[in-house]
Amino acid sequence: MQKQYILALDSGTVKNRSVIFNRRGEMISYAEKKISTFTPHAEWIEQDAEEIWSTQLWTAREAMRLAAIDSREIAAVAVTNQRETTVIWNRQTGRPLYPAISWQSRQTEQICEQLREQGYQEEIRQKTSLVLNPYFSGTKICWLLDNVLGAREMAEKGELCFGTIDTWLMWKLSGGEIFATDYSNASRTMLFHLKHLCWDAEILRHLRIPRSMLPEVHPSSHLYGYTDATCFGAAIPIAACIGNQQADLFGQACFTQGEAKNSYGEGSFLLMNTGKEIVHSQNGLITTIAWGIGDDVTYALEGSMLVSGSSLEWLKHGLGILKSMPDSEWVAKLVPDTGGVYFVPSFRGLSAPYWDTKTSGMIIGLKEDTQRAHIIRAALAALAYQVRDVYEALTSDVKTPIAQLKVDGGAAQNNLLMQFQADILNMPVIRAYTTETTGLGAAYLAGLAMGIWKDIDELKSLWHEGVRYEPQMDEAQRSALYDGWQNAVSKVMGW
Ligand code: G3P
Repeated sequence: MQKQYILALDSGTVKNRSVIFNRRGEMISYAEKKISTFTPHAEWIEQDAEEIWSTQLWTAREAMRLAAIDSREIAAVAVTNQRETTVIWNRQTGRPLYPAISWQSRQTEQICEQLREQGYQEEIRQKTSLVLNPYFSGTKICWLLDNVLGAREMAEKGELCFGTIDTWLMWKLSGGEIFATDYSNASRTMLFHLKHLCWDAEILRHLRIPRSMLPEVHPSSHLYGYTDATCFGAAIPIAACIGNQQADLFGQACFTQGEAKNSYGEGSFLLMNTGKEIVHSQNGLITTIAWGIGDDVTYALEGSMLVSGSSLEWLKHGLGILKSMPDSEWVAKLVPDTGGVYFVPSFRGLSAPYWDTKTSGMIIGLKEDTQRAHIIRAALAALAYQVRDVYEALTSDVKTPIAQLKVDGGAAQNNLLMQFQADILNMPVIRAYTTETTGLGAAYLAGLAMGIWKDIDELKSLWHEGVRYEPQMDEAQRSALYDGWQNAVSKVMGW
C-alpha cells in the first residue's frame, strides 16, 4: 500500500483539528472538535489535558474515517499545538497532576513580579529573548510545583514530566515512549537558551525547576518515534513537531527572511522570518525559534497580541450584542465607519508591543447616536490597529520592513476587516488558498523529514494565493484613524 498522505494534528486553544494532506499539499480530509476551558478564579484559565488528548485522537480517527484512509497509507503524523500551555504529569502513571494551565492564564503574575524584584528580568531577556510575563510556561511550572500538593517533592525525585501540549500529545500517541519537544515550542517556555539551543541551567535554578522534568529537544522536522498501535491500528512515524504560530509561518510559505504572516485567533500572532539572525527587539517584540530542519535553525520576530478574536467573543457572550463571529461583518457594514468609537480590548493588560500588565479594556468616543454596529466595527478595527502597532515595532527593529502580510485564522475570513487591514497598513494583505495553513506547515515539515518532498523549493511550488486585498485608503485618512487609536491606547495605559 502506497504511503501517500500526511496526518497533521493541530491542537488549538478553542478546538482540536486533524487534517489529512496529499503529496500536492491539498487537504483531503478534516475533522474538528471543540475543547472546554475553565476559569476557576478570575484571570485563571485552565483546560483538561485528558480532554485535549481524547478529542485530538477522536478528530484524527474521524478524519481518517471520512477520507476512508487506512493508517498504512499514512506516511507520517505531524503535531502542532497551542503554545506555552503547561501540563505536568506523573511519569509512572501518565496521569496529569492538575489541569493544563493555559497560555492565557494570569495566575503567575506574582511569580513574575518576584523574579523582576530579584533582578532576573534582563538575564531572561538576554537568553530567551522573551519578556517576563505569565504568558510563557516557566512561571506556570513554578506555580504548579508550589501549589499542587506533593508536586515539588515528586519533581525533585524525578517522578514528574513537564510538557507543552505537543509533548503531552506525543507522549500519549506513543504510549509513553516519546518525551520530547521541538525548538519552536521550547523557545516559548522562558527556560530555553535561544542561541545555545538547550535548557538554561541558571534560569532553571532561578525558577527552582528540576532539569529531570524537562523533555528532550529536537529540530521541528525530525523522526520523533512512532504512534502506539492502539491509536490507529499501525505504528506511524511522528515526523514533525512545531508550535502552531511557527507552523503557520511555514505553512504560509514564509520561508525567506523578511516574509511575515498574521493569524487572527483568540489572540493575534504576527511573525516575521528573520533567517539565521536572532534579533533582540528594542520595541516590545519577542524573538522565537521558527523551526529547526537538520542543523539549520530559523528565527522569527513575533508580536503576540493576546486579546484579539476573544474581544468579539466578549461582545457575543459578555455584552450579548453579537450573535456569531461571522455576523460581525454584515453588522459592521450597517454603518459606514466606527462613528469615532475606539475599542481597546486590553482585558488582560496590553501585550505586544506595550506589555503593560496593569491595564484593563476601554471603549471610548461614545455618543447618543452610537449603535451596536459602531461598537462591533470598532472591535474589528482594533484587530487591525493592533497589527499596525506590531508592524511599527517591527519596522523599527529591522532594516528591511515587510512588503506584504499573509493572513489566516477565523477573522481573516472577514472581508471588511481584511480590506481595513490592508488600508491601515498601506500594504497588500494576502489570504492563502487553504484555511488550514497551520496543519499544512506541520505536514510540510513531516514530509521533509520522510522524503515526501525534497526541499523548500519544492514546497514553494505547492503554495498559492487565495485572495489579495490592496490598500485603497488615502494617507490623510489612514493617519487620522491611526492617530485616534494611539490616542486611545495612551489613555488606557496604567488604567
Ligand atoms: O501562543 C499561543 C498560541 O499558540 C495560541 O494559538 O490559535 O490556539 O489561539 P491559538
